[in-house]
Amino acid sequence: MCGIVGIVGTEKVTDRLIDGLKRLEYRGYDSAGVAVLNGSGLKRARAKGKIASLVDALEKDPIDGHAGIAHTRWATHGKPNINNAHPHFAGKVGVVHNGIIENYQDIRRELNGRNFSTDTDTEVIAHVMDEALKSGLTSKEAFSQTLKKLRGAYALGIMVDDEKDEIFAARAGSPLAIGIGNGEMYLGSDALALAQLSRELIYLEEGDWAVLSPAGYEIFDENDQPVKRDVTVIQAGAMSASDKGEYEHYMLKEIHEQPITVNATLKAYLGADDFTETARKIDFTAIDRLVIIACGTASYAGEVAKYWFEQIAGLAVDVDIASEFRYRQPVLSKNSLFVAVSQSGETADTLAALRYCKQAGIPTAALVNVMTSTMAREADIALPLNAGPEIGVASTKAFTSQLTALATLAVLAASQRAAIDEDGIAKLTEQLSSLSNLVSKALTTSADIAKLAEALAPAKHAFFLGRGAMTPVAFEGALKLKEISYIHAEGYAAGELKHGPIALIEQDVPVIVIAPHDELFEKTVSNMQEVAARGARIYLFTDEDGAKAAGHMAHSVIVLPKTGKFLAPLVQTIGVQLLAYHTATALGTDVDQPRNLAKSVTVE
Ligand code: F6R
Repeated sequence: MCGIVGIVGTEKVTDRLIDGLKRLEYRGYDSAGVAVLNGSGLKRARAKGKIASLVDALEKDPIDGHAGIAHTRWATHGKPNINNAHPHFAGKVGVVHNGIIENYQDIRRELNGRNFSTDTDTEVIAHVMDEALKSGLTSKEAFSQTLKKLRGAYALGIMVDDEKDEIFAARAGSPLAIGIGNGEMYLGSDALALAQLSRELIYLEEGDWAVLSPAGYEIFDENDQPVKRDVTVIQAGAMSASDKGEYEHYMLKEIHEQPITVNATLKAYLGADDFTETARKIDFTAIDRLVIIACGTASYAGEVAKYWFEQIAGLAVDVDIASEFRYRQPVLSKNSLFVAVSQSGETADTLAALRYCKQAGIPTAALVNVMTSTMAREADIALPLNAGPEIGVASTKAFTSQLTALATLAVLAASQRAAIDEDGIAKLTEQLSSLSNLVSKALTTSADIAKLAEALAPAKHAFFLGRGAMTPVAFEGALKLKEISYIHAEGYAAGELKHGPIALIEQDVPVIVIAPHDELFEKTVSNMQEVAARGARIYLFTDEDGAKAAGHMAHSVIVLPKTGKFLAPLVQTIGVQLLAYHTATALGTDVDQPRNLAKSVTVE
């Protein structure tokens, strides 16, 4: 969370810092700020809300210089107001920070002679460094000493009001990259931030800190020893944040891109004749369990995959929420493969779980959309999603790409483990090849779903029900609806409802039932009857056969393309994505940047 950009060079920096911040707005948009060094000290501009507000502030009161740091905030400590917006200043020091300083209360107590002007954890960093400078240390010494006092997670950009144009940077737990320029150096939370500035990047490693100046850079490890880190050259175009094109929102564009993106994913794992080298990096005969760890939407992809791997390949799967995983002392076996699933590849909890498994000697894989991400670099095996940049904060195309990759790997596992015969494998791969068409057809339900969404929009609560692999799709439907329309929604396994939640069903409460016509259909219909009998308004997402069999019981029916059981979760997902989107637009919410959210969750 929070995005950081920095530039130190010879040309003016403010406009370029703002450009970098705009690319990082997906990491948070509670407030934004910029600080520059311009020969007459440190100057800053800050604004509450999105970067557009900072641009307005800068228009009224411009600042510029040859060195600057900038920040877009997702609030952790302290309200999202202008006072808590970064950069934070203390004496000669200005700081931008992504992460959480866990011992900030202790540090505040230690520095009890100092005046703190914000409610943030970050401000202590500026005070600690300023104190160190006052004790006579050089900026470099003061920075190194400051880092030793901090506990928690940080990516830092710091400037000091002295005679030198320098930016001090450090990374512990939160990602940070250095960009190399010609007579300039850059700092950014990720490659996207630096896309317009540099293609030659150095990803700082855990505990690294660096000093950037127009002349170049120095990197030190956590023991203050000078170190060399590899320079990664980012391919041209790889980081282009695409525009919205003909679509009103990024989310809608990304929903409609899915026929293409699922194909791009599929190609990474399945060639014309066989599984690809990328897929074969995993030997499913060498393991007896998959441990899939992820957060939010990505964890629901893992939950769907559990059905696939267990049913198709006979391979046991545990799915765990990353934020819980390492704290419950999981019993791990060396015969397991740990798979982190993550769009960003930077989610703090998922990354921590990956490191936990690596430390325990468990083989690790990371299924990620950003192949330059920390997870891709740290896992034993990096597996791509190839969904292209996902800008909408609510994940859509990355989710279907996660599903596509995991479905294909489940078939590979079945083949390697001889869980089904060659005929069976051929049938499943044939179905995978038809996926893009099925997704295209599913998208044609958009207008019908928009009508249904008009009826759903006034609701205060909604329930999503599914059975089997449709259960995680129900979870995902509920998550999408709540995060962008702010309607309270819960997903349940249809059979679980009567064990408590059915108490919430009353007249006209919307219940979205996801039930393609499979072997569990009749059971789901029974659960549908149970809620209908209590006055629920049923919206049935199904296929043609399901609509014939049970359409009469529903207030509205959405008929998605008929598939085999295997691909039904992917196709039904399109329906719930469109439902969330159209409901949110009917309510006029900020679809691409919903309140309180950030796309990349880099704090615990
Ligand atoms: C919901 C959503 C989140 C992410 C979660 C994990 O629409 O996008 O629930 O899925 O924060 O993020 P990644 O996949 O980047 O690890």
